[in-house]
Amino acid sequence: MANLTGKKILLGITGSIAAYKAAFLVRLLIKSGAEVQALMTKAGAEFISPLTLSTLTKRPVHTDIIAGESWNNHVEMGLWADAMVVAPLTASSLAKMAQGISDNIITATYLSARCPVFFAPAMDLDMWCHPATRENVRRLQSYGNLLIPVGHGELASGLVGEGRMAEPEEIVAHLHHFWEKQQSLAGRKVLITAGPTYEPIDPVRFVGNRSSGKMGVALADAAARRGAEVTLVLGPSRLSPRDARVQVLPVQTAEEMLQAAEKAYPGADIGILAAAVADYRPREAAARKIKKTGDVLKLELIKNPDIAATLGQRKKTGQLLVGFALETDNELANAQSKLEKKNFDLIVLNSLQDQGAGFNYDTNKITIIGKGNKIRDFELKSKPAVAEDILDEVEVLLKNKPE
Ligand code: C5P
Repeated sequence: MANLTGKKILLGITGSIAAYKAAFLVRLLIKSGAEVQALMTKAGAEFISPLTLSTLTKRPVHTDIIAGESWNNHVEMGLWADAMVVAPLTASSLAKMAQGISDNIITATYLSARCPVFFAPAMDLDMWCHPATRENVRRLQSYGNLLIPVGHGELASGLVGEGRMAEPEEIVAHLHHFWEKQQSLAGRKVLITAGPTYEPIDPVRFVGNRSSGKMGVALADAAARRGAEVTLVLGPSRLSPRDARVQVLPVQTAEEMLQAAEKAYPGADIGILAAAVADYRPREAAARKIKKTGDVLKLELIKNPDIAATLGQRKKTGQLLVGFALETDNELANAQSKLEKKNFDLIVLNSLQDQGAGFNYDTNKITIIGKGNKIRDFELKSKPAVAEDILDEVEVLLKNKPE
């Protein structure tokens, strides 16, 4: 039985037939030591009685933002909780959460909640497969919310397929696993490089690339959530980590990135190099803005330092190094050769040929390659979810690595 002792959980129940399972879910949560505050939409309360839930939770159940003369303080509840779980989550409530529409007690509390939010969708097969639903799920994941995947089987409509709410036991197992994992990198130091580099041509122009820094920032947040001490060397990016514990070192050029990374890596247990470093830079940056004169302007570019290869050479026993590869041709072979050449322990390949993967997208589709030709393909996922997959693989290596 999972141990959730002392955890304060907000349980949101929306209007699906799977709502009848909420009673079992509450019992399991309470048996595992959690405190549960149930919230229901009006449709949810049609499927299971608030009296059943208030008896089980020993707390009044809230079904509306306004209760008689007073209001149910969704802001306070959002701050009280260690986690919010919306189970079952209908297609309609999912869409509201994705859009930030706060017209009922669950969606209003959702917007106020600072805690991790889990969502367990429940709907019919075709609703689940609809592109609008797929997009809404991805949206919630891009906000950092955690999907509890639907099950496959008989649906209330009589159809058979995907869309059933996960069983209460699985939902509790998810929560348990989440808190267990939370400290899985405690005491570990992680260095992450992210974003592009900008190599100056003159005071106003630069050579750069389209990297947004999303993947690296998601990795930094995920590692911090697992208890690691994270240093993020971040090239020019509009993004910054949500987790205030991440130490951000902003840099502009590859040389600055190298300097910051070289300083941090000797003390780190893990280096994850997600930056898209410019391979070349202008030989000289003009001190003043270059004027438009001739028809042709020749830029001479010289090679930048390879940060990954430099750290790879200096890697000590017990340290891990993870690189990225973005390839357009001979993807697997190129990534494998980079793994060797740069002395990585893992390389994360994302292909420009996959729809929705790579620069600037909120999603990514990766293959993780380890030594000895170990290859694992992953589905298209939000970047925060991809970050969790990468860290899971890193942790497997960490466990088997000599100290
Ligand atoms: O650019 P390339 O495909 O070689 O990048 C592979 C890996 O090496 C990535 O992890 C990237 O962050 C890293 N790299 C680096 N310094 C460079 C070029 C790439 O750290 N100058």
